[in-house]
Amino acid sequence: MYRYALKVYGCQMNVYDGDKMKTALKERGWTETGEEEADVVILNGCSIRDKAEQKVWSDLGRFAPRWERERKPFVAVTGCVAQNVGRKMAARFPWVRFVSGPRHIGAVPDGLEKLMASPGETFQFLDDDPRAFIDLPGAPVERVNPWKAFVTIAHGCDNFCSYCIVPYVRGRFVSRPPEDILEEMRTLAADGVLEITLLGQNVNSYGSDFSDGYTFANLLRDGALKTGVRLLRFATSHPRDFTPDIVDTMAEHSPVICPSINLPIQSGSDRILSLMNRGYSVERYRETVSLIRSRLPGVGLTTDLIVGHPGETEEDYRQSLKVLEEFRFDLVHSAAYSPREGTAAARREDQVPREEKMARLNEVNRLQSGIALEINESLVGSLFTVLLDDVAPRGEELLQGRTPSDKVVLVEGGEDMLGRFVPVEITRADNWCLSGRIVENRK
Ligand code: SAH
Ligand code: SF4
Ligand code: F3S
Repeated sequence: MYRYALKVYGCQMNVYDGDKMKTALKERGWTETGEEEADVVILNGCSIRDKAEQKVWSDLGRFAPRWERERKPFVAVTGCVAQNVGRKMAARFPWVRFVSGPRHIGAVPDGLEKLMASPGETFQFLDDDPRAFIDLPGAPVERVNPWKAFVTIAHGCDNFCSYCIVPYVRGRFVSRPPEDILEEMRTLAADGVLEITLLGQNVNSYGSDFSDGYTFANLLRDGALKTGVRLLRFATSHPRDFTPDIVDTMAEHSPVICPSINLPIQSGSDRILSLMNRGYSVERYRETVSLIRSRLPGVGLTTDLIVGHPGETEEDYRQSLKVLEEFRFDLVHSAAYSPREGTAAARREDQVPREEKMARLNEVNRLQSGIALEINESLVGSLFTVLLDDVAPRGEELLQGRTPSDKVVLVEGGEDMLGRFVPVEITRADNWCLSGRIVENRK
């Protein structure tokens, strides 16, 4: 049968979609190979910033010499990048023969088979109607990782933050029915998955489109009690919609629901938050953080922050530095604002010069790296139960896992230890990860 290679860029949603595509293609007898042997190379790409898009453009360029020689392989561009600029990619490169946006993932397996049957044609599955959605049913049983999996609980986003492309590429917000999600979680748990991360652009608004009042907190509780999963995580929480019942549910179902929350603040200036259309103030954010920290001791709190949104003055930016010092996040996903065509912020005339954005980003990263190191150093000597879920990218006989609060921990161990929960004592701290040793028989 046919052979494919898959490369995934971007966030966990694209990883989940990639795993679902793998599962569907395997069911049809396709085999996964390296790019050299593949009939079709699938690039499941991201569009969140220009840099993410450029990665796909530059990957596409690499196929030129082989195409000249062999007229192979066909390239399929999928994911958010396909919805945003897939048409341009197909127009520019003759090897891009298949384009399908994230709302047409269900069209991928049949579409790729049609492509193989009609090699002279180009296939495009894109729909500019933001409500269009063709899902790919079934749990992602072919996964990047055997022990952990993602489950998308809601598609799309209706928030239209000024800077963000997601509502345009992923379309309108739709919650998946709880019974589908819980069934998928059960299938995954039965397949050996120990940790599940529930995904949505704004998990707190899960269920807001249902008429029966079923909420995200209900889903968390049912997920913890009724699926057999050992660890449950979720991302991303929107500060505007974060409700106390989520924290209550997390506290009640510890340690299955891990004490870890990503709560993207985006800016420390109320003026910029309002320009961003985020719907909360720093004071409101502060109240939410107090609630979280008082109810969930040891919680890992991470955030996302954009520097250089149009109109951001030196004073606004100073306020972003101040909130980093005040809240002392475990991790900050920081980014320089990148204009996305079609969004409100990209149309503004008060863009911040590139050098200024880069200087702000560097300072943010310097400040945060010191804070993260201090927090991590305070954990040396602590004991955590860690699921060893992967081989560390560097170093022989080094495995990695995460603390309940979602910090990466490296420990020495052979691959036979993968998929085990072990007690780990933290022995060393870096600004981006911890090192530890497995403590056996500790009383
Ligand atoms: N739904 C999540 C974020 C999804 S996008 C939320 O509401 O927070 C992931 C992160 O990418 C965002 O939190 C933001 O910090 C960053 N991001 C999104 N659009 C961006 C842009 N145009 N320029 C720079 N960073 C951006
Ligand atoms: Fe983008 Fe805002 Fe939706 Fe997050 S909530 S995906 S930042 S529009
Ligand atoms: Fe990128 Fe789409 Fe995720 S734009 S960040 S892959 S939702």
